[in-house]
Amino acid sequence: MTRQLEGAVALVTGGAAGIGKAAALAFAEQGAKVAIADLKVDRGNELADAVERSGGKAIFVRTDVSRTGDVEELIGKTVTAFGRIDCAFNNAGIEGTLATTADCTEENFDRSHQNRGARVRQERHPHQRHLPGRYPYRDD
Ligand SMILES: NC(=O)c1ccc[n+]([C@@H]2O[C@H](COP(=O)([O-])OP(=O)(O)OC[C@H]3O[C@@H](n4cnc5c(N)ncnc54)[C@H](O)[C@@H]3O)[C@@H](O)[C@H]2O)c1
Repeated sequence: MTRQLEGAVALVTGGAAGIGKAAALAFAEQGAKVAIADLKVDRGNELADAVERSGGKAIFVRTDVSRTGDVEELIGKTVTAFGRIDCAFNNAGIEGTLATTADCTEENFDRSHQNRGARVRQERHPHQRHLPGRYPYRDD
């Protein structure tokens, strides 16, 4: 069967667990090289190793997407490893604890919104320059 993403490079934030992990595996199964970014170092490294053992290409980069410096490092390591970025799944985030506005604690509100802010920041981050259809990326 033809793999649809042969040679492409995919970046997945929150890629060590849940939806992000499933997406990272799906990207790899379709032939993409995968950069997995997450706070969970052990799980991220295990997933990257599992992709490599099954014949794919993957790196794990410990990243807190709420920190611009971490995201810049993630972009740099991905481009160093794979030369380009074709698609980014900006998935990292937390649900927080579901509660009515009146019952929501300040800590719960701030924590979940910090991550939502991070997601917005990822979407306007310079790594979008690496994505086709937005700004052409050249590795020089
Ligand atoms: N599961 C659902 O029903 C559902 C519904 C709506 C939205 N979402 C959103 O989808 C995304 C994935 O959901 P999930 O159920 O797979 O969650 P999950 O908790 O299983 O996985 C999220 C991953 O993101 C990572 N993460 C969290 N904050 C991070 C940060 N600041 N930097 C880097 N990594 C970080 C976590 O370590 C974890 O591995 C989340 O953004 C969530 O808010 C999920």
